[in-house]
Amino acid sequence: MHSVNFDTHQPVPILRAMRVVSVPLGERNYSILIGAGLLSKLGTECKKLGLGQRCAVITDANVERRYAQRAVASLHRAGFDPTVIRVPAGETSKSLSVVESCYDQLARHRLERKSFIVALGGGVVGDLAGFVAATYLRGIAFVQVPTTLLAQVDSSVGGKVGVNLKAGKNLIGSFYQPRLVLCDLATLRTLPRREFRAGLAEVIKYGIIFDAGLFRRLERELDKLLKLDRATLTDVIARCCEIKAQVVGQDETESGLRAILNFGHTIGHAIENSVGYGRYLHGEAISIGQVAAARLSARVLGLTDREVERVRRLFRRADLPTQISLNASQRHRLFQAMKLDKKVSQGEIRFVLAESIGRVRWGWKVPIGVIKEMLE
Ligand SMILES: NC(=O)c1ccc[n+]([C@@H]2O[C@H](COP(=O)([O-])OP(=O)(O)OC[C@H]3O[C@@H](n4cnc5c(N)ncnc54)[C@H](O)[C@@H]3O)[C@@H](O)[C@H]2O)c1
Ligand SMILES: [Zn+2]
Repeated sequence: MHSVNFDTHQPVPILRAMRVVSVPLGERNYSILIGAGLLSKLGTECKKLGLGQRCAVITDANVERRYAQRAVASLHRAGFDPTVIRVPAGETSKSLSVVESCYDQLARHRLERKSFIVALGGGVVGDLAGFVAATYLRGIAFVQVPTTLLAQVDSSVGGKVGVNLKAGKNLIGSFYQPRLVLCDLATLRTLPRREFRAGLAEVIKYGIIFDAGLFRRLERELDKLLKLDRATLTDVIARCCEIKAQVVGQDETESGLRAILNFGHTIGHAIENSVGYGRYLHGEAISIGQVAAARLSARVLGLTDREVERVRRLFRRADLPTQISLNASQRHRLFQAMKLDKKVSQGEIRFVLAESIGRVRWGWKVPIGVIKEMLE
């Protein structure tokens, strides 16, 4: 069991311009640029990285329609020679057959060692394109241009790339860091509201696991965020990226601290994989999971009832689900799914639990009986 308390949130000046967060990984350091309208700077930012001329923009059908042309035009203006690889929207594109079709198109466009890949889209495109980049010619450079809130605060940062197998999600993959992450906040304007709110579940998570000040800010300014107020959005996304960067910088390959990012995910994944299959977006499932983890924290770590209620209320205000009602057989299935999770050993499940908002402990072993009781 380990604990962490980095309530290091300091007031950040509200800048209308771009914000830069760096991810401290030694010689693989990279920057996350955050601002509205950055897509038109994609070419000039790539130019600074000293990459080869040929490149491929991997994107999905929804994102291509809206943003591919702008990305391609910007790359052209900076002297690059881009090709667009479009994959179907949705989780099914994270598959080895889509990976193979990407390889074929890269080869047809004669991408070489110095060439690079731009991942333009949500987490699906980022994970897929990152995996293609990690493996094509034993690895070529890649740049993330995340266009969902979830991808901007979570999946584009930290270097986990991969695809799914029939046997389960993310079973094939690697750690492979991008050379640059470019978050254009303007793209969030076309994101379906439900997807935006699902991304907020990860934003709230950062407050709970790492930063009580961020959590308080979310309590104060949630409405501004929901209205996509630019300054608030910039600050909050930058803070989330800073937290993820700091955690990943200390524990790139998840041997310790990185586990805190899984707060609410043990139960959340079990919901996704059993009773909630196809019913909940990831963010919705982990919203339920985080409220459950807060309740569990109250039972075993003394998180106060008042703080549990603050957590529940914030998810509710974001219009996210906070509970799930289960009949006996669903409860059984959920429980089995949780036991299949990798964090289980010898009658105990390891959880990330909160001592207070902004301060969590990980690797906390909870006896299966206690979880059963709680789910009932
Ligand atoms: N690598 C990591 O560390 C990590 C972390 C968390 C999640 N993930 C992965 O991320 C994936 C989920 O990512 P997601 O939630 O971004 O889903 P997604 O990529 O499927 O995007 C959600 C939907 O929004 C559409 N879309 C994307 N941007 C849009 C925009 N600006 N305007 C309009 N529509 C837009 C997409 O076409 C899609 O239909 C999962 O596969 C998950 O495993 C990875
Ligand atoms: Zn998540």
